[in-house]
Parts: sequence; C-alpha cells; structure tokens
Amino acid sequence: MCGIVGYLGKDNAKEIVLNGLKRLEYRGYDSAGMSLFDESSHKFVNFKEKGRIKILEESLTLDHSSMGIGHTRWATHGRVNRENAHPHTSEDGRFTIVHNGVIDNHNKLKKLYFENHTFKSETDTEVICELIALYAQKMPSTDAIRKVLKMLHGSYALLVIDHDDPNTLYAAKFKSPLLIGKSDNGMVIGSDMMALVGTADNYLALDDETFLRVTKNNFTLYDLDGEVLPYQMSPLDIDDFSSEKGEFDHYMLKEIHEQPAVLRRIISKYFNDTTIHIDDEIINTIKSHDRIHILAAGTSMHAGLIGKGLLESFSNIPTEVHIASEFAYQQPLLGEKPFFILISQSGETADLRACLVNLKKAQHKVLTITNVRTSTLAREADFALELHAGPEIAVASTKAYTAQIAVLSILAYALSNQSFDLKRELSETAQAMEHFLDKYEVMEKFAKDYLQKPNCFYIGRGSDYYVGLEAALKLKEISYIQTEGFAAGELKHGTIALIEEGTPVIAIISNDKTAENTRSNLSEVKSRGAKTLTITFESLKENGDEIVLDNINPSLSPLLTVIPTQLIAYYAALHRGHDIDKPRNLAKSVTVE
Ligand code: F6R
Repeated sequence: MCGIVGYLGKDNAKEIVLNGLKRLEYRGYDSAGMSLFDESSHKFVNFKEKGRIKILEESLTLDHSSMGIGHTRWATHGRVNRENAHPHTSEDGRFTIVHNGVIDNHNKLKKLYFENHTFKSETDTEVICELIALYAQKMPSTDAIRKVLKMLHGSYALLVIDHDDPNTLYAAKFKSPLLIGKSDNGMVIGSDMMALVGTADNYLALDDETFLRVTKNNFTLYDLDGEVLPYQMSPLDIDDFSSEKGEFDHYMLKEIHEQPAVLRRIISKYFNDTTIHIDDEIINTIKSHDRIHILAAGTSMHAGLIGKGLLESFSNIPTEVHIASEFAYQQPLLGEKPFFILISQSGETADLRACLVNLKKAQHKVLTITNVRTSTLAREADFALELHAGPEIAVASTKAYTAQIAVLSILAYALSNQSFDLKRELSETAQAMEHFLDKYEVMEKFAKDYLQKPNCFYIGRGSDYYVGLEAALKLKEISYIQTEGFAAGELKHGTIALIEEGTPVIAIISNDKTAENTRSNLSEVKSRGAKTLTITFESLKENGDEIVLDNINPSLSPLLTVIPTQLIAYYAALHRGHDIDKPRNLAKSVTVE
C-alpha cells in the first residue's frame, strides 16, 4: 500500500524516482505523482495522475532533475482522483510533501488551525503540509517540521521539500517503513528496499520517531527533539533472485516456478551438512515456554495452520493459530508461558504490528518469520528468521507461502528429537515440485473448461483442508470466483446445498488415513452434478485421478499439493483476462488496520 521514493544527487532524479515507483507498483496503488526540481526555472514542478505509473510517466515534461520525490497512493482518505494524489504543496507554495500512513487526528488539526481554509484535497496529508508552512513562518524549517511531527497521531513515512532550499530533503518516520540509501552519487529514500535497489550501496532502515535532513552527499539523523543520533549503515546486498519478469508473462507465474529454487536456498541457509543453523537462543527460549501462538493474516495465516501441524507433530509443543486482526483486539486467555510466532511475508502488516505492540507491553517473547529482514516486525521482535524467498512482486503470495512452511518445518524439526533426514526430504520435495511444474496443461484445461461458474469449492481433511483454504483464497483473489475451502467431512452439514450441475469441486488427498473418507465426499458431490478434480500422490492414486504428484514425506505434502492450486488460480485469472499481478482492491503490503 502506498509507496515513497525520493532522490537527491548527481544522477537523474526523474529516472531514479520513476524506476523506484515502478519497483513499488507491486504493493498496489490507484494513483501516482512526483515533484521534480526544474533546474532551468529553479522551481519544483508537481505531476500527478489517477491510475497507472505509465500515465504519470507520459505526463512528465522534464527530462532531467537533480532532486525529486514520488508517491504511489492507495486511497484511504478521499476518493481516487488527481487532487487527492500526492505530492501536496502548501497554499503558500513553499512546502511539498508525500506521505504514507494515516493521520488519525487530521480533522481535529484542520479545525484547530485552519477553520477558514479550503483544502484542495480530501486527504489526511494536506494538513501536515499546511501546518509545516504555518510554523515555518516563525522558525527554521527543521524546527517547524519536527514541531508538526509531534502533533500527529497515527502513522507516517514522510518526505518534505522546502522550495527555499532545493539542496535539502527532509524525511521522517513513525510506524510506516522508511529507508535511506547512499552511494557515491547521491542519496535515495524509499518506503521499501526495492526502491533503493540499483541506486544505493548502503542503507539504513529508520526507527520510529526519527527525522532526517538529507543533502546530496550526506544525511543527519535526529530524534524529534533535534538531538543528533548515531547510526550504522548496512551493505545493500539484494537477493540473487531477480526482480524482473524475465521469460514469464507474469510475476505470479515466475514466482510459482521459483519455488523449487527457493526451497533449495532455504535448505542451504538453514542446514550445515545435516545440522540445523538456527540460533540456540531461539530454540532454548521456545523450549522454555509451554505453548506457541502463531499470529498471521491471509496466506501467512494459512501457512501458520500448516506450521501448527508440524510443530505439534515434530516437537510436541501445543500450538494455536490466530488471525492477527482478531487477536489484536480479542486476545484469548493465554496460558502460563506462551511464546509467539508472527508470520509475515512483508513484515509490515499493520494487524500484526498492533499485536506486537501489545505483546511487547506484556513482555512476551516474540519471533518473526519474514521475507524482509529490515522490516518493522523483524526489527521489533525478540528474534527473526528469514524466508530467503527473494522479492515477491505479484500481490498473490505463492513462493513466500511455501517458504513459510519450509522454515516452519525446519524450526519444528530443530525443536524436536526427530531423527529422520529433513534436509533430504526437503530436497526431494524441491525435486518433486520441479517435476510437477512441467505438467501445467491439466490445470490450464481445468481452469478453462470447468471454472466457468461463479463459485468453486476445495475440499480436504487435516493439512489438505488447510491447503484448501489457501487454494480458495488464491483462486478468489485473482480470478474473482467465489471460492470456499472446506473440511471435506463438513460439506454435508450444510454447504452441499450449494452443489449443482457443473459446480467445480477440487479435492486434495494426501493422507492415507483419510483418503477413503474424502473420496466418499467427492462421490457425494459428483452424484449431485459437480465437476470434480482430484489432486493426490502416486501412493494414493486411483483410476481417473487428474493430478498425481510424486511421493514425498507426508508431513511436507502441503509444499507440493499447493502448487497445482496456484496454477489453477493463475490460469483461471488468465482466461478471464484479469490483471494477474495486481488484482483489484488488493495491496501487497497491508499497512493499515
Ligand atoms: C494473499 C496474500 C495476503 C497476505 C496477507 C498478509 O495472496 O498475500 O493474504 O498473506 O495480507 O501479508 P503478510 O504476509 O505480508 O503479513
């Protein structure tokens, strides 16, 4: 949701900011804008457009600039239109800002300070700009900005330009992520590491309530009282997975195909020969607790459900899974010694941040499992484990989901006394994934021929049910087909009423103990006209099963059974002509509650 990029230096700010915004497109947005310094007129010029960055790009009339800021907006306050798009410039023309986050007290501030002022936009951002301009009439701009920051309730990542000083850029952060990157040629600031890639050699992820004064070759970090803070930058060694689409038509398809490589990478990061490479402190801390609570949202929550099974069966530690947005405000009664695992691809999900704030207050120990090691949730938890999945650009999560399950399996194994060779089992799973990925035609045909109805069902038992929940989410979010994942035995307790001639029902069968039962449920829907598809393993296959996967360790079956379901979703969306990588109404990183 929303993206920010700013640049100040010897290179062309127009290109750097524009490319940075394009790299942030995956986060989801509905309008985009830039403010660029025009060296010939010595003025900043704003460009903003509703819709895609391409439209903004076509509207840019400047070829070169030494300084610029840009923004992609995902509307929260005010409609999707040009007026509400960022940047916003103060009425007196002196300050221009871009903002990520939500200012909860914006109405109150407007009433208190600007009773007779007509704001140009409906946003919660514009008032920040006007307040800075108001205070800057009486004090230096750094003091004015810091004063205003202290008045804001909510969350912000902000870039501020003072038109009187085009050699300086100001930035500030509270709750919304912001990073600064440095190279010999200049300084780049972004709300996501992806915006810094290719421009910066080193980076610093800002802490909350910090403020930056940035010039072409350096920056100073302050707290909100103006005290200078020390900092240490880290080298920006972006993952070796490319963030380009390459030979694939869509990022989602590319990311589905990257899953065997991601799994192999996880193996190489977490295993030293056969010993597991997870900090002893993490393992000992979890072992000193008596119950694990996994908190997550969406796809990550579905990975958490699989993780529960792995943690309980490998290591015997009772584990519960909670939807983060529920847990944040309806915290269940906790036992004596609860340990918390937050699972989040982005590490920025606001629902989880709300949980983390409460957990830290109560001094609980928290581990974050995330794909972004610099993310807020990774930095604020006691411990973090990385997914090593590489940048996931498509909004619909695929490789991060399987990476989450793989890392959870390694953690569960490290907590256990199991003696089987997990490293080998994971390698065999990667091989089975690769083998299956060549056989996409079945899914393509099923999606084209059978997914014509407005609804669809996935059924399964145990971990197959949990994969069914994820499969249903994937199909609904990109094809817009109303899809439900059901515990196969539960279907007949009501939902079977929805089955009619041609309703697609997909069964996932990976467990020999429940295979027969699920097959009976499949017969029940078939006899009511359902068009069915079965996803199963070699060892369990029966005549007529459409998708038969190579046998792997049954505990790891979700890593493999999910792949045909990702491809079904992909081809269903493709045949319907949808924007696969950027489905409607969705954002990659959900930074509002
Ligand atoms: C669906 C999807 C979402 C995310 C959810 C949590 O494909 O990606 O359901 O899983 O928004 O996001 P993270 O994992 O970043 O906390």
